[in-house]
Amino acid sequence: MEEASKKRVFSGIQPTGGFTLGNYLGALKNWKNIQDEYECVYSVVDLHALTVRNDPATLRRQIREACAMLLALGIDPHKSILFVQSHVSAHAELSWLLSCYTQFGELSRMTQFKDKSQKHPDNINAGLFTYPVLMAADILLYDTDVVPVGADQKQHVELTRDVAIRFNGLYGDTFRVPEPLFTRVAARVMSLQDPAAKMSKSDPNENARIMLSDSSEAIVRKIKRAVTDSGSEVCRGEGKQGVENLMSIYGGVTGRSFEEIEEEFRGRGYGDFKAAVADAVVAELQPLQQEYQRILSDRGYLDGVLKEGSERASSIARKVLSRAQKRIGINIFR
Ligand code: TRP
Repeated sequence: MEEASKKRVFSGIQPTGGFTLGNYLGALKNWKNIQDEYECVYSVVDLHALTVRNDPATLRRQIREACAMLLALGIDPHKSILFVQSHVSAHAELSWLLSCYTQFGELSRMTQFKDKSQKHPDNINAGLFTYPVLMAADILLYDTDVVPVGADQKQHVELTRDVAIRFNGLYGDTFRVPEPLFTRVAARVMSLQDPAAKMSKSDPNENARIMLSDSSEAIVRKIKRAVTDSGSEVCRGEGKQGVENLMSIYGGVTGRSFEEIEEEFRGRGYGDFKAAVADAVVAELQPLQQEYQRILSDRGYLDGVLKEGSERASSIARKVLSRAQKRIGINIFR
């Protein structure tokens, strides 16, 4: 009874390059927290990762690592569906159908495509261009109500809505039109070396980011070296982006508001503050890392969870795919 009344969430994350503290505070911690309120479907989107070149052995390892990390940080396979995108072939199938209802012009306007093709001018492949269509397929296959995403993915969710509305307009109600969900805890974590840029796993400067797999020593060192600014007060304000970034990290981990943090560190310098931030991050990540190692070394358990996840995901996705195929006029035997 209760199950049926819950709204469905879908979200995805790429397996390559590991997860940063920014991924965790900005998205993944929220993935964990909404599991009781929503019926959640979470996917490790390995097909999306193919838009850049990957070493096959590394990719294979990173897919398992990403899944183990999601389980370690609290995605509960008894509550939510966790699966690897390529294990459910309906994603690639619906993606093709939707690409015939998405305009070249629309995809050309995607800012992520423009950014990425500037960054990799030697490999502007068609997959990079149609990336948002595959993402639309991900979302629409699960009759998704809400999609928790960061601000950088908002345009892709809007495109998903446009395509769903267009398809429904042509063939009658087929797809549920999803809403984006932005996290309430506004933890947009920035680079530790340049607080004007987002903390990114592809930043060439390792000190700019904290990875969820970083050792405690590395975390302490990186936070100690994080750029702050002249002045010594722990507060927000003009020219204080470095400190503000550390404040949102601290707030993201401890649940404290900016005001509470300013209060806590009034009259104390950056040194004290950075030590407290480092302690809090280490305390949050240490148990998670132990759990991660445990799960990663239990291949039977991990693969079992993923197998079951893909079966559950498939049974939902197949129905939606077949509904769309019939509407269009293919799938003539069913
Ligand atoms: N494009 C998303 C990102 O880079 C990942 C993603 C793929 C996704 N499919 C999705 C996110 C579906 C939400 C819903 O962050």
